[in-house]
Amino acid sequence: MENCCNNKNDSTLQADAEEIIAVAGKEKAIPILQEIQKKKGYIPEALLREISSLTKIAVSDFYGVATFYSQFRFTPLGKYVIKLCNGTACFVSGADILYDTLCDFLKIKNSETTKDALFTLETVACLGCCSLAPVVMIGDRVYAKQTPDSIKELLNGIIISEPCDKSSGARL
Ligand code: FES
Repeated sequence: MENCCNNKNDSTLQADAEEIIAVAGKEKAIPILQEIQKKKGYIPEALLREISSLTKIAVSDFYGVATFYSQFRFTPLGKYVIKLCNGTACFVSGADILYDTLCDFLKIKNSETTKDALFTLETVACLGCCSLAPVVMIGDRVYAKQTPDSIKELLNGIIISEPCDKSSGARL
């Protein structure tokens, strides 16, 4: 049984790897990493190893490139990506306090995802709506003039709206 599942996983990995190589080529790490992230949302280690075996680019070389550029992620994004603006107008209006509030509330730091995969926190440069500072963006919606209380209320609203497994209480 285990072999069956492993074979299925192996063939899926190989198919994913071949698909990515067909688009990004075999020669350079950056286009391959970009294609992996475009398809998967992050860089899964198992897929990187599979591609390494097909391209002869060493896994360590992929990691060297991927850790140099902040665009690459090694963990999946949460269902809700919270972009906290850290531009000047937002910073002087309390973005640092909002950051501490979000870290305390979600038990994560910048660029991390909560254990239940619901939220990812990212600090970003100016979102282009400085008159609304401090600003938080969740999905494609901007939330203006946030305070520690309003941001907690916003997140609680999202958490409550998420479907739960009634028997275990776990989110689905
Ligand atoms: S500084 Fe935050 S929107 Fe411009």
